Amino acid sequence: MNVLIIGSGGREHAIAKAIRKSKKVTRVFVSPGNAGIEQVAKCVDIDFNSIYDVVEFLRINNIHFVIIGPEQYIANGLADELRLWHYVVFAPSQISAKLESSKIFAKQFMKENNIPTANYINFKNKELNKAVEYINNINGKIVLKVDGLAAGKGVIVTDDKDYAVQSLKDIFGGKFGSAGNNVVIEEFLEGEEASVLAICDGKNFVCLPPAQDYKRIGDNDTGPNTGGMGAYCPVSIVTSEVLDKIKNKIIIPTLEGMNASGHPYIGCLYVGLMIKDGEPKVVEYNCRFGDPETQAILSIFEGDLFELLHTAAVGEINFSAYNEKATMKKTACCVIVASKGYPEAFDTGYTINGLCDINTNDIIIYHSGTKNNMVDILTAGGRVLGVTGISKNIKFAAEKAYNNVSKIQFENIYYRTDIAQKEIKRLSNL
Ligand code: AMP
Ligand code: GLY
Repeated sequence: MNVLIIGSGGREHAIAKAIRKSKKVTRVFVSPGNAGIEQVAKCVDIDFNSIYDVVEFLRINNIHFVIIGPEQYIANGLADELRLWHYVVFAPSQISAKLESSKIFAKQFMKENNIPTANYINFKNKELNKAVEYINNINGKIVLKVDGLAAGKGVIVTDDKDYAVQSLKDIFGGKFGSAGNNVVIEEFLEGEEASVLAICDGKNFVCLPPAQDYKRIGDNDTGPNTGGMGAYCPVSIVTSEVLDKIKNKIIIPTLEGMNASGHPYIGCLYVGLMIKDGEPKVVEYNCRFGDPETQAILSIFEGDLFELLHTAAVGEINFSAYNEKATMKKTACCVIVASKGYPEAFDTGYTINGLCDINTNDIIIYHSGTKNNMVDILTAGGRVLGVTGISKNIKFAAEKAYNNVSKIQFENIYYRTDIAQKEIKRLSNL
């Protein structure tokens, strides 16, 4: 079968690389792709604003299965449109995707379905004064969230009230466009974060190895939130007991709740969790694979990813397409190499040197924001590469990743130096 993957980041690079290993796959197309993805798939430009162009491309290239990476296309309803044309799609419907595209929808849904999460209150932009008063009465940390999609940048966690009020004014003033017409202010949760990705067929699901993302730009979790500066997996705090709780108290009720509302969830359900004393609470839902968690997870994934996603997309997941036991014997650490300035303004177009010096044994370089100008590979985004080390042991996986990160050079290079360190410390204290 021929497959189209939509997207241009490290996540799509990882999905394309894993999908093409399946014996059932003939050709993998990625749109738009990037300089790394073109080494494993055929990159093509498609105008996704025109469903007729998309369908024509699928018809000409005899493609019957589409995997959508980024949330924006899913939130815009692309999966629904393609299903109307009888294509098999791995991505949720527009309504199911509201779990990610509206924080207010997600919070209400969790409340109605008794899914553990932080207490919250929401405000409309007409209610600025009320929201400011509410912030001024909070004791301790303030968690302010833009209701709509904001590329991982719409959450402010601070104990500085003036900063929170200014951020609120910026949001209501249009910093995030209409995504910021409403905000959620929620209880600050203590604990350790983890991301669990469940491949769902509407009723049943398979959990991939739990991962931990590093969301802040700076070492020791300082500075603003980003899309993710690195990830590792599996995560030891997600013990099998904790995973059972995540399944029973969060994933199953989520799938049941969506089913009861008439919108079965088909696709990757990403649950961002805060875990304290072995009790998980939902910090966020995403309606797609996480980036960079996917790069770490698929680096150790054992099984047939195409079979898993395709059978989920048609509503009958094949559990045996994922070999959990073999997967969990390995660990992976993905370090995001970024352009200095990200998540705010940054420059692009710099030549990336050192890619040829990378030791490819147990190292995978996923491209996030790169471009091939036929002479060099150039930086083309805030997050540029995901250098991923694989080993039986997370300490060695991180060492491999960082040894290879140090071989890469481009102007204004920036990366965190502490990816996976929390896990390494935790395990060394056992
Ligand atoms: P979100 O986009 O909702 O996942 O939020 C981004 C990041 O902000 C999370 O990964 C957490 O690090 C932090 N965060 C969000 N909500 C909370 C909360 N209620 N308590 C503590 N930290 C939070
Ligand atoms: N790494 C977080 C996300 O994909 O949203």
